Order: sequence, then C-alpha cells, then structure tokens
Amino acid sequence: MSDPDTGPDGPGPGGMDRLSSIRLNVNDQPRRLEVDPRTSLLDALREHLRLSGTKKGCDHGQCGACTVLVNGRRVNSCLTLAVMHEDDEIVTIEGLGDPDGLHPLQRAFVENDGFQCGYCTPGQICSAVGMLAEVAAGWPSHATTDVTAPRIALTDEEIRERMSGNICRCAAYPNIVAAIRDTAEGGTG
Ligand code: FES
Ligand code: FES
Repeated sequence: MSDPDTGPDGPGPGGMDRLSSIRLNVNDQPRRLEVDPRTSLLDALREHLRLSGTKKGCDHGQCGACTVLVNGRRVNSCLTLAVMHEDDEIVTIEGLGDPDGLHPLQRAFVENDGFQCGYCTPGQICSAVGMLAEVAAGWPSHATTDVTAPRIALTDEEIRERMSGNICRCAAYPNIVAAIRDTAEGGTG
C-alpha cells in the first residue's frame, strides 16, 4: 500500500514529520514559514509563499529556470534547502519589477523579443541581474581574455558563457544576449 498523501509537508516515506520554522526576507518582506526540512527553496517560494514566477524546469540543477538571487548572488533554488536560508535576502522575479515599473532587464527582454514561451525568462532575468553584478565586481569567466584588465569587456561571448547555466528550450538565445547587452550598455543592469 502506498503512503497516504499528506501534502508537501506531510510525513515522507522515511516517516519524517517534524516541521522547521524559518524566517526569510523575500522581496523586502519578512516571511515566516513552517516547512519540512527537506523542502527546497524553490518549493518554499512556489508552494508555500505562492510566488510562482520562479519556475521549476528540471528540479535538479540543469536548466536554470529556478534561478533567484540570494544575498545578491544567483542561485539555483531547486538545489538548496529553504532551511539553509534563515534571514537571507531572497529576490525573485516578482521583486525585481512589475508591469507598472519594469526592471531594466525586464524591459530589455520585452524590447528585444528575448522570449517565446517565457518559461525560462524569470530565471534568465534573475541570472542576468546576478551576472552583471559579477562583471561589475571584476569576476573573470572562462571566456575572459584578459583577466588583468581593470574592467571586463562584456562581449557577446562573455554573456553567452556567463549565462550558459540558463537553458532556453525555445532557443531565444540571440535575443536574450541582445537584451542583456542593451541593458549593460545602458548601465542600468
Ligand atoms: S529547476 Fe532548478 S536548475 Fe532546473
Ligand atoms: S522562451 Fe521558452 S524556454 Fe525560453
């Protein structure tokens, strides 16, 4: 006989039924939640906080659809447990902008046709925000030709390399690169 369906926080096959109380700061709002300690940050955002902008693609770190910012750094939220993020600052696509006040990258994705179905787009945009911060901080990538240069030139090759963890099944890649390039050139990312 199969285990009873007790929902996302019910006891699992191992019988673990203790919930953990955690505090997260999500999009500048303090949030407290009770979760099964095995709950990923992705499921905490989507299933507990109803922030469905962050997408679940593969659920094992291969597609980047679930990318969010944790303390300013991009993270695959399917690969990290919610309980590891007590008091962390989490930013999801909902926290970057809204239809009345788009983030510059959101606007650039619209203007450059940087999506088709849009499923990968929240992860692409959160990843691009983190990526542009990494470039501004001078972090080299595998594609950086001169790691001693005072400023990293954000070539298309750099963008492609740095965004390679975000897969787009619609293959909107040229326009995604264009959107990020436009934002970087505008200095608004
Ligand atoms: S859903 Fe997290 S990397 Fe694919
Ligand atoms: S726009 Fe469809 S997966 Fe990227």
